[in-house]
Amino acid sequence: MGLRKADKKNPVAAFTLCLLLGATTGLASQAQHASPHAARPLSSQKLVARMTLEEKIGQLVLLPAVVQGKEVTLSQDQRELVREGKAGAILNLVGAEATDQVQAIAIRESRLGIPLVFAADVIQGRNTIFPIPLALAASWNPSLVREVARRAAEEAWASGVRWTFSPMLDVSRDPRWGRMAEGPGEDPYLASRLARAWVEGFQGKGLGQPGTLASCPKHFVAYGAAEGGRDYNSVEVSDHLLWEVYLPPFLEAIRAGAPSIMAAFVSLNGIPAVANQKLLRDLLRKQLGFQGVIVSDWGALGELTIHGVAKDRVEAAFKALRAGIDMDMSSEIYLRNLGSAVRAKRELEALLEEAVLRVLEFKRRLHLWEHPFTQPLPPPSASWTKLDRELARKAATQTFVLLKNEGGVLPLSPTIRRIALVGPLFDNSETPLGPWRTRQPQSGAVTLLEALQEELGDRGEILTAGWPWGQPTQRDKAKVLACARQADVVLLSIGELVHMDGESASRATLGLPAGQEELVELVASVHKPAVAILFNGRALALPELVNQVPALLEVWFPGVESGHAICDVLLGKESPSGRLPVSFPRSVGQLPVYYNHRRTGRPPGQMFTSRYIDSPVDPLFPFGYGLTYTQFQYGACQSTPRSFHRREKIRVGAWIQNVGKRPGEEVVQLYVRALSGELARPIRELKGFQRIYLLPGQRQWVEFSLQAEDLGYWDPEGVFRVEPGIYQVWISPNSQEGIPGTIELLEG
Ligand code: GLC
Repeated sequence: MGLRKADKKNPVAAFTLCLLLGATTGLASQAQHASPHAARPLSSQKLVARMTLEEKIGQLVLLPAVVQGKEVTLSQDQRELVREGKAGAILNLVGAEATDQVQAIAIRESRLGIPLVFAADVIQGRNTIFPIPLALAASWNPSLVREVARRAAEEAWASGVRWTFSPMLDVSRDPRWGRMAEGPGEDPYLASRLARAWVEGFQGKGLGQPGTLASCPKHFVAYGAAEGGRDYNSVEVSDHLLWEVYLPPFLEAIRAGAPSIMAAFVSLNGIPAVANQKLLRDLLRKQLGFQGVIVSDWGALGELTIHGVAKDRVEAAFKALRAGIDMDMSSEIYLRNLGSAVRAKRELEALLEEAVLRVLEFKRRLHLWEHPFTQPLPPPSASWTKLDRELARKAATQTFVLLKNEGGVLPLSPTIRRIALVGPLFDNSETPLGPWRTRQPQSGAVTLLEALQEELGDRGEILTAGWPWGQPTQRDKAKVLACARQADVVLLSIGELVHMDGESASRATLGLPAGQEELVELVASVHKPAVAILFNGRALALPELVNQVPALLEVWFPGVESGHAICDVLLGKESPSGRLPVSFPRSVGQLPVYYNHRRTGRPPGQMFTSRYIDSPVDPLFPFGYGLTYTQFQYGACQSTPRSFHRREKIRVGAWIQNVGKRPGEEVVQLYVRALSGELARPIRELKGFQRIYLLPGQRQWVEFSLQAEDLGYWDPEGVFRVEPGIYQVWISPNSQEGIPGTIELLEG
């Protein structure tokens, strides 16, 4: 539970060193079994000794495949670079045949036969598109995330991919940032639990084993704090905030065995990450003990001249290598300019060789000399497609968050015969796939219309009225009204189009786009039971919508099984169990708004207090919030013993009862708060959660074990501190409700 210490003994470095030693030893034994195709793998040191300067630099070059017509492939020039040993890895090459063909060039035609590593962004799956990561974060289910990652890895492995640029671990408190969609939400603890699940899911039985992917947590670090929520914008955060909020998920990913990390585009406190020695060599390598490969983000080395920290491309190459960038993604700065930098500064030769050694060790840990080509996976009992679709559907249903359900509109009554489907998204098969769907997903998403038609068959009637993404006509409006008036219930499929989320898709407003507010007003004017089904990739500010509809279901971008999963929940086959991984603001003016804020010296409740004169301070929906189709009652939080010493543990628990009429899943959340200490601590900090399933009337004692470390914090120097004192503890349904208990951590 919680984060262990990154103290001077630095177990992370020790652990990783054992890994590398083991890998090297293991590799020595593997050398006897190298496939005939691959050059017999010399030790990395011996290999480096045989390499020319160009071949050393070549190992640090990550080439992106290029789009040629309908294909994504390598150009002839790129193939020639591979033949000359001037490329170490390839990004975005698609399919087993294509990757094997290029691998054969590297192994059989280059002088040293060093295998390539093939990479891709396996963010939402490879062929089967799963829900966006923010949606999976809303499941609060690390086991589910691990299962999705494992399956995505198997699909990607089969198409030659060995390295995924995932998980994205950028904690984000600003929903204007479009990449919130790809991330773990606003909380470092939830993000850390998910970070471990992603890495373990991708890497499964061990790096290089069939069906696994090497993970690459990104974007190091604090990319989610881009000023104004504007993508790629400058990041100015204190060392304390780095340690308290942005570093913990990366620390957990490193401890889970991530062998690579991607540096962010952005400048952190004035220095771009890819030229930031303090960040990469001092903090990531020395303090966090990371020994793996550091790769830059797309073209980031070339941007150093644009940031204005390199006078030319040669200086960009020099500064990136000096900072600790091992692989250059797509900028060709290393390929074209690092040689000049090394020849001008001979001391760079040692740094170059260090980087090459890390890349070679990375490839050895992936068993690329023994198994450089793709290998089919043993077929499962049922067909992959059947299993994948079932998993995608199960995953999606667990990500949905029921934000409102007045009068029990949901689940829909089985007696309902006429359903009106209105809005711009009920028959859209692309948007539900989310911003990181691969270029060639197996298929579009099952739409809500298709799923409802399948479900209702001739038992019911579905009336539809679309809504344009431009100016609605009178005819559009009349059709919506006519449908709504004839129906027993109205389903509004509203929200964002997929291009409104993801990279370089920041928004300055957070309301419903494309005049959808008018659509909601039209439906509300008919006074029929209505459910708003919200497709989006970020927290939105929707106070008007919430006031105008009796039920609101947050579905994010649910992936390929979108329509089926939404129907399962609408019709009560599955109960909604998702909880918000991000706070939903009342307005953009409130930003940043997040649950784990500090108390200030003027909390609410007095005349001169930290407030807005024109808005409440709290969010519309808080972190951790979500309803179910039943109701859960929480007893008082009890702790035994009430006080404890540093080396002891304490148990905190509460009785929780299902007092409703339907079974349901509840995400029981554990929060703590230090009432005093050296630093002003957040008013709540998530330290645990459990999913429970209770039948109507059933009650369960839910207990968490707490130890001193769980009450600790990272100080601005990156020292993990635990202070004696009084702490409040909540066992609650979200970050706002609950009656706290108190515990005391004693001196000594
Ligand atoms: C993109 C993204 C990064 C991704 C990389 C390769 O610009 O910032 O997350 O892994 O390029 O596609």
